[in-house]
Amino acid sequence: MSGATAFAPGRVNLIGEHTDYNGGLSLPFAISEGITVTVEPGEGDSDDPYLRGAVAELRTAGVRIPDVRVAIESDLPQGSGLSSSAALEVALCLALLRFADAAEMERLEVARLCSRVENEWVGAETGLLDQIASLFGREGHAMRIDFRTLDVSDVALDLHGWTLAVVDSGEKHSNAAGGYNERRRECTEAAAMLGVETVSEADRAAARSLADPLDRRVLHVLDENERVDAAIEVLAAGDLPALGRLLDAGHASLRDLYDASTEAVEQTVERLKRAGAAGARMMGGGFGGHVLALFAPDTPPPAEARLVTPGPGAKVL
Ligand code: GLA
Repeated sequence: MSGATAFAPGRVNLIGEHTDYNGGLSLPFAISEGITVTVEPGEGDSDDPYLRGAVAELRTAGVRIPDVRVAIESDLPQGSGLSSSAALEVALCLALLRFADAAEMERLEVARLCSRVENEWVGAETGLLDQIASLFGREGHAMRIDFRTLDVSDVALDLHGWTLAVVDSGEKHSNAAGGYNERRRECTEAAAMLGVETVSEADRAAARSLADPLDRRVLHVLDENERVDAAIEVLAAGDLPALGRLLDAGHASLRDLYDASTEAVEQTVERLKRAGAAGARMMGGGFGGHVLALFAPDTPPPAEARLVTPGPGAKVL
């Protein structure tokens, strides 16, 4: 039995944060950087939760996986909001499926399976944003994900010479240990109090009547869902300054309504704004990680920034 190799990209989320586990909307894209996994016959590292989880979940799904050894290569910084975790899960699953000579699995099914690895084996109660972004990436495109229906549609990302760049706040976020799981519980509680399945279905006035901080959590999600469709509209109109304003508004909401910012993140956002960014916002789970910024054609991003462009989705090599 010979080895199998798969690549899965990290992702940038243009807008739509903390909406995935709330039945809302997001607009991410896969980036060019990612993780390449090669699996070969042999004895694996039995302590690694990613490998143990992927193998166990695939076996539960009926895929026969023999003992494997894994080699991992990455050009994605870890634990910083570019979804290195999801990229690893997706690359592992695709490589294992190929290695096992298994029948093709639907990409949404792979995303769900990888998400179970994250939730149940790695211990972070994250949603499906990162796995879907990695699996459904398309060069030159972002994707609108509706987490209520799991509809994924391509959105052309034509920036008319403007650039998107990310800067590491220097603060490692840890989804499992951070406030992420707490936010998730707050939203579940708010939905139950409002009698809706997810807070994306909440009525605005009813949301305002909730006690602090639940009111602010729901209002963030409602506004953020609207910003996703507003971003799609301004992109279609080529109105990049308006996209910058949406990024700023998203950041303010994550900071003031969702309480997901930190001192290091605020300083990074301010630095980027001083460098001339037309918009800047924290990205991913928050509580550290990367900041995303938009720059006009005549404003070069600072040297510390990493340019990000939409690349293709995960694939077997
Ligand atoms: C992390 C999680 C995602 C999503 C974002 C916030 O990246 O892995 O599922 O919840 O945070 O939008």
